Amino acid sequence: MMVLDIKNLSTHYHSRRGTIKAVDRVSLKIEEKEFVGIVGESGCGKSTLAFSIMRLISPPGEIVEGEILFRGRDLLKLSEEEMRRVRGKEIGMVFQDPMTSLDPLEKIGDQIIETIQMHEEVDKRSALEKAEELLESVGLPRNRVNYYPHQLSGGQRQRVMIALAIALNPTLLIADEPTTALDVIVQEKIMNILKGMTSEGRSIILITHDFSLASEKSDRIVIMYAGWIVEMGESSKLVNEPLHPYTKGLLDSVPDLWLDRKIKTMPGLPPDLVNPPRGCKFHPRCPKAMDVCKEREPTDATVNGRFVKCWLYEV
Ligand SMILES: Nc1ncnc2c1ncn2[C@@H]1O[C@H](COP(=O)(O)OP(=O)(O)OP(=O)(O)O)[C@@H](O)[C@H]1O
Ligand code: SF4
Ligand SMILES: [Mg+2]
Repeated sequence: MMVLDIKNLSTHYHSRRGTIKAVDRVSLKIEEKEFVGIVGESGCGKSTLAFSIMRLISPPGEIVEGEILFRGRDLLKLSEEEMRRVRGKEIGMVFQDPMTSLDPLEKIGDQIIETIQMHEEVDKRSALEKAEELLESVGLPRNRVNYYPHQLSGGQRQRVMIALAIALNPTLLIADEPTTALDVIVQEKIMNILKGMTSEGRSIILITHDFSLASEKSDRIVIMYAGWIVEMGESSKLVNEPLHPYTKGLLDSVPDLWLDRKIKTMPGLPPDLVNPPRGCKFHPRCPKAMDVCKEREPTDATVNGRFVKCWLYEV
């Protein structure tokens, strides 16, 4: 069953310098039980896409077009009241910056208990028990329920955020760089929890810079560049045989510790989104760029079941 069906979504930020097209006509479907990784360099629109799904875009940001169908209902048409019921229980999110959603004045335990009790009829005692179990599952000692957010390290706060999000066992969980501040053992623990959720029928969107992590854990990978989805498809196929030159560039920059291969870094930087290059936004950095790439936006093609937006695969 289709859980999420995003159609032609654009989210812009209005700035004094002009309009930033952070998400530019993106279409994406997520199935039940699917684990999807979204990969791309900094500033390519990953978090903006996540915030758009949660409908947490506020001025100067604006969702300017598109549909976000969640189990058939267009989230963009819901009232704020209806949307509040969707957030947390139906679509959960682990934010990239843990301080944005923790209350600095309230103990960790109370925040988790409140979240649990907002959505479930349980007494405080069993909610506390559940809060402690959740902390333990993300590798934190049970007594951390008595701590305030400022008493924890960045990595510990990140884990509290994850505990809060999984407490509600949402239908769809969006995790935005959930493990950046964590060591590999804790990272693995958390990835296993997320994987476990998919076997219970949940869907996961993992947003990360870490291509190896995404390819190891995800069923499908989505590559974003400058507000576009430039390639998406089954993880193993995409990694073994990347089609888009940007995907190839990203893969070449992944450190290969076994082979002690020298890492190639991609030349250049992602463009200024106020005034991106004409045609294909990747053309100034693309080793395969042709004349047409500088003039016309590539069409969306499907090659062996894989989505790719590049003139090399013109249909
Ligand atoms: N609140 C905002 N106001 C104005 N511009 C914004 C705002 N948030 C993001 N942007 C711009 O939108 C673009 C996409 O940003 P976004 O945070 O979605 O990227 P990202 O892929 O999540 O990057 P990172 O990997 O660094 O988290 C960037 O050019 C950024 O500067
Ligand atoms: S459309 Fe052209 S510039 Fe863009 S990625 Fe493909 S070959 Fe490179
Ligand atoms: Mg981000």
